[in-house]
Amino acid sequence: MLRFLTAGESHGKCLTAIIDGMPAGLHIQEEYINRCLSKRQMGYGRGPRMNIEEDTVQILSGVRAGKTIGSPICMLIPNRDWENWASIMDISVAPMTEETRVTRPRPGHADLAGAIKYDQLQDLRNVFERASARETVARVACGAVAKRFLEEFDIIVTSHVTQIGTVRAQNLPKDLRLVEQRALSSPVRCADLNASEKMVAAIDECIRSKDTIGGIFQVLATGLPPGLGTYVQWDRRLDARLAGAIMSIPGVKGVEIGLGFKYPELTGTQVHDEIILDEHSKKLTRRSNNAGGIEGGVTNGQPLIIQAVMKPISTTKTPLQSVELETKTPSVAHFERSDVCAVPACGVVAEAMVAMELASALMERYGSDTVEQIKIALKKDLDNLP
Ligand SMILES: Cc1cc2nc3c(=O)[nH]c(=O)nc-3n(C[C@H](O)[C@H](O)[C@H](O)COP(=O)(O)O)c2cc1C
Repeated sequence: MLRFLTAGESHGKCLTAIIDGMPAGLHIQEEYINRCLSKRQMGYGRGPRMNIEEDTVQILSGVRAGKTIGSPICMLIPNRDWENWASIMDISVAPMTEETRVTRPRPGHADLAGAIKYDQLQDLRNVFERASARETVARVACGAVAKRFLEEFDIIVTSHVTQIGTVRAQNLPKDLRLVEQRALSSPVRCADLNASEKMVAAIDECIRSKDTIGGIFQVLATGLPPGLGTYVQWDRRLDARLAGAIMSIPGVKGVEIGLGFKYPELTGTQVHDEIILDEHSKKLTRRSNNAGGIEGGVTNGQPLIIQAVMKPISTTKTPLQSVELETKTPSVAHFERSDVCAVPACGVVAEAMVAMELASALMERYGSDTVEQIKIALKKDLDNLP
């Protein structure tokens, strides 16, 4: 079983992650993980913190001479901003002064609900330091290892932004490699470069009006063999696992697979992907991929297509109504430097979550001890596909 845990506060010393269950024999280098981390830091509309942080990972265990050895992989990513926060975030003597305490919860954040849950109404920082999406750096580090693992089997996971505010990407290339290339050259990771410009303008407008903006991104995976996941038990369906993994990202409020919420506009004969014989290989294939690569909770050999929506960032420069918890008087919500739009970064985090789920599903089907063993089992399976 592949699993991972993260720890660390937004302005604490560092973030850490442990991946348990990664097979032995995987080539992995810190530079590879760092490239994934820098992808998460990019994107037009990020706040000033991204200029301070330049996330770099230190692998502490589970890797020897550039290869995994089957034991847990422990990773550490320092928070470069820690020095500025040491007096506030110290683990033994953090001062609780009027200046440093936060008592005006932000609507849309975990502040109030979390403070009630953990009895932290006297200082909301004790909630949002962990609820903050800074934690997703550790997820991207884990996802990078999973992506490297999937690459060994020619499985590629990528993401791109399809909507920011009301601006939608229109003319997307069919070739996924081109989608990735174009997304890389766009400041908002959008593969329609015309729409990309309008998205930047929409973010600029939000910066001017001291507001925030959300959007939609797509996560794609190619090269998946059929047969990952299962329908036999509700919690083992791959569609459910992927949706849960993406929904766990702070700010994500909806996930759809394939046509998703467009299904009601079409009839059954229009949407279901007809099964045909490929002219050349005489193997089974599909006329279309509206299902987004999963039927019955199982991959069907077509590319995986997932969309997810991120709500606008909840820390707004234009003050939202709140209540000062100590005095119980009307007030405005706390403001701390913040992103205006984080949809491109959210897509990168979703890539990581999808990669972890797919790596896990691949191991469940083909083994989990060594990369070589999985390669042999997968090849045998692919050679015998109908
Ligand atoms: C990559 C990323 C960056 C984010 N940056 C911020 C930010 O700078 N400020 C903020 O208030 N929320 C930010 N968020 C969103 C909040 O974390 C999110 O709105 C909050 O956790 C509440 O969402 P929830 O109800 O889904 O948990 C970010 C989310 C992601 C995925």
